[in-house]
Amino acid sequence: MKIIGIEHVGIAVDDLEETSSFWGDILRIAHTHTEKVESEGVNTKIFDTGKGKIELLDSLEEYSPIRKFLHKRGPGIHHVCLEVEDINIAIKELKESKIQTINENPTIGAEGYKIVFIHPKFTGGVLVELAEKPI
Ligand code: CO
Repeated sequence: MKIIGIEHVGIAVDDLEETSSFWGDILRIAHTHTEKVESEGVNTKIFDTGKGKIELLDSLEEYSPIRKFLHKRGPGIHHVCLEVEDINIAIKELKESKIQTINENPTIGAEGYKIVFIHPKFTGGVLVELAEKPI
């Protein structure tokens, strides 16, 4: 597989608006996108430095994975996302190497990226998202 770079760091937050003012108003990183990603049960605000993004994540529902994460660990880094050239090649190669992904097939994440998550037990303890940019 070909990894293009770090696409974003996903941060689970208690208060999306309050945390946004730090990243947007204090650090003055451009707020480029807000989206409810129903498939992941999250509300997200994306800040783009031009060399990698910060994705703030808040839960849409009572029982989403983000809510579970916040209950268990509190706010903090939830995942690191690497951009890949081709998500299907990446999934195939991971499978051949017996590395488990959370989903078998790519789903559509924020900004229309095709995404898959790799189980933290294979990565050194952090949830890793792979994402292919939409054409
Ligand atoms: Co993400």
